[in-house]
Amino acid sequence: MTQLTDSRPTEPPRVFRVLDWVLDRSVVLGYSRIGHAVRRRWWDDDVPAGMLKGRHVLITGATSGIGLAAAAALGRLGAVVHVLGHDRDHLERSLERLRVEVPDGDYVSEVCDISDLEDVRRFGHDLAQRVTDLHALVHNAGTMARERTETAEGHEVTVATHVLGPFLLTHLLHEPLAHGDGGRVVFTSSGGMYAAALRDDDPDYGEDGYSGPKAYARTKRMQVVLAETLAERLAGDRIVVHSMHPGWVDTRGVSRYLTVFRAATLPFMRSPDQGADTLVWLVASPRGAQQSGSFWHDRRPRPTSYGRARQQTPTQVARLWEYCTEATRDSKGSP
Ligand SMILES: NC(=O)c1ccc[n+]([C@@H]2O[C@H](COP(=O)([O-])OP(=O)(O)OC[C@H]3O[C@@H](n4cnc5c(N)ncnc54)[C@H](OP(=O)(O)O)[C@@H]3O)[C@@H](O)[C@H]2O)c1
Repeated sequence: MTQLTDSRPTEPPRVFRVLDWVLDRSVVLGYSRIGHAVRRRWWDDDVPAGMLKGRHVLITGATSGIGLAAAAALGRLGAVVHVLGHDRDHLERSLERLRVEVPDGDYVSEVCDISDLEDVRRFGHDLAQRVTDLHALVHNAGTMARERTETAEGHEVTVATHVLGPFLLTHLLHEPLAHGDGGRVVFTSSGGMYAAALRDDDPDYGEDGYSGPKAYARTKRMQVVLAETLAERLAGDRIVVHSMHPGWVDTRGVSRYLTVFRAATLPFMRSPDQGADTLVWLVASPRGAQQSGSFWHDRRPRPTSYGRARQQTPTQVARLWEYCTEATRDSKGSP
């Protein structure tokens, strides 16, 4: 974990820390709306309106669910929000909704398929020309596949969407992110990543017995490891990198891919606004400039594994980096 400034967060009272720990370990209580309702009683650092006035923020997967709620919140804070979607119609409908919900919001429409590395390359180069000072890049686009699906470049779609596209886009936007006092990168990972160890030996999930939820958990683990590695590598440019998980949030993604889970947890699920809270706070609050490389939930850093079983070795981390670097090279060998 990289500490970029000397200012340390004030510790909440012990009673809160114990309660917070119990909520986290119970999973059901912590990830549900109960966790959010209890923890928010101790939050004393809400971000004032106008905090992001004129700052550019790019958020992927911002056409529904958590991303759409985050785009609304960031617009209310005064940011110029670059709303990225891959389906032009869906994107336009979402922008219409945002402009009604946040009439003063400044929204820019951005079309790109994050799983398509050629498209990411086109978009990244284009945005870097248009925006020279990028305050934050939020990798929020997410998917789950029912059966193993490959992108045009031959990558399993979940790893392409959650890992390779974000890796390449972060690289292409390095200059605008490093501008001025440095930008922030946030990955929307998932608590599901606790169920998976880092798989550096088969990142494209070519082995038999493909499972969509397993591929999802593996790639969400990769995001957390990648955020830690990027935090170390980008610290010299004053770019901070976080990963976070939103808890259990009632979104289209969940109703599409996790029907049984949704039916069982619906009364306790968070709203998209509640799920987006930590992400928005990391982008906007002064605390988001600290503790680079951490994995957050409900505005506090969380362990990335419990026990030793799912901890990765330095060799595995290096192999993930190598895989991302190789997979995102273009035909001329450059990223
Ligand atoms: N909901 C939860 O309980 C939960 C829990 C943990 C983590 N998460 C994470 O939160 C993030 C947001 O998910 P959500 O629950 O809000 O689901 P969602 O409503 O389905 O949102 C997913 C977003 O990603 C977009 N997207 C998918 N593939 C894309 C691609 N190739 N290029 C560009 N955009 C793409 C979708 O656009 P289209 O709709 O147009 O396809 C949509 O805007 C995901 O990363 C997910 O893994 C969610």
